Amino acid sequence: MSGTYTEAVRRRLGATRLCLGTMYFGTTVPEDTARLLLDRYFERGGRLIDTANCYAFWAEGGTGEESESVVGRWIEDRGVREDVLLATKVGSRPEPPGAPWPESAEGLRAEVIREQFARSAERLRTDRFDVYFSHIDDADTELGETLKAFDALVRAGSVGVVGASNLTSARLAAARDLSVKHEWAPYEVVQLRHTYLTPGPDADIAPQLAIDAPMTGYVREEGGILLQGYSPLLGGAYTRADREFAPEYAGADNARRLETLRTLSEALGVDAGRLVLAWMVGGEQPVTPVLGVSTLAQLDEAMDGATYDLPPSVREELDTAR
Ligand SMILES: NC(=O)c1ccc[n+]([C@@H]2O[C@H](COP(=O)([O-])OP(=O)(O)OC[C@H]3O[C@@H](n4cnc5c(N)ncnc54)[C@H](OP(=O)(O)O)[C@@H]3O)[C@@H](O)[C@H]2O)c1
Repeated sequence: MSGTYTEAVRRRLGATRLCLGTMYFGTTVPEDTARLLLDRYFERGGRLIDTANCYAFWAEGGTGEESESVVGRWIEDRGVREDVLLATKVGSRPEPPGAPWPESAEGLRAEVIREQFARSAERLRTDRFDVYFSHIDDADTELGETLKAFDALVRAGSVGVVGASNLTSARLAAARDLSVKHEWAPYEVVQLRHTYLTPGPDADIAPQLAIDAPMTGYVREEGGILLQGYSPLLGGAYTRADREFAPEYAGADNARRLETLRTLSEALGVDAGRLVLAWMVGGEQPVTPVLGVSTLAQLDEAMDGATYDLPPSVREELDTAR
């Protein structure tokens, strides 16, 4: 196993507070804007870039190959492959293209992982991914088949660490136990939806999944797992009158949390989105926000937010509001 590479990735990931998501790069975010965003993120010290082999197939005119292609061209043109940490994902791409999704998701069979690794590598113009995620849970494929295929990539030095997205804490625990038993590379980065509000107990956001108390508890007890939270700003709904919160964020608890957030934002004169990012990054169990931005102003706001240290009394108020 290429231990040195894996250890270097682990070290660098551990020191990373913010991740740039690129889901709409090359579709709704034109390539020239995407490149400006990548340049600014890099100039300001951002290094972790998140993409997937299916971004953004659902956007108008999208095939799902745009994001990786835009990121790959930027990395090559700028000559920054060694400087950035590159994360991509496999498992969610509709197969065949255009088929009803999520039923058509390609899943996590070994053959899919091997093939899609090669295709993503071509688009990203690299021969290795620092983090390779399973994008969804695939109940139809034996966990062992998936984990063994990822492990082969780690042993070959083609992947630094393996991550999992959108799986429950019970499945994560089962996967990690199996990896320990077989000495396979374990899932050590976990990417789920996460923001200040939480989906109601009966909300079904499948195939997405949000960080919940059992997941936080498992990660705390287990140690050695990095948590990432996607859609941290809920499309801008915290601050924008033209954006609504999705229905899963209805309910009295979320209403009270929102009121607390907005009251604190006003009192401190700090944007509510910035408070949310600071709350995620600096908590007892830190969660790295995976940002979605389409303008330089949004990116700057987010990067300022991630470096803002919440006063302890503010964190306490945010933590306990419900
Ligand atoms: N693993 C998974 O299954 C999964 C799922 C979803 C996302 N992700 C990752 O997470 C990343 C972010 O996801 P997301 O796009 O859903 O994130 P989000 O935080 O929910 O939404 C981002 C959007 O919020 C708006 N926004 C951002 N900053 C703002 C600001 N300062 N003021 C006002 N509005 C602002 C922008 O909308 P406009 O562009 O319309 O202005 C931006 O595109 C993706 O790029 C992807 O890498 C992963």
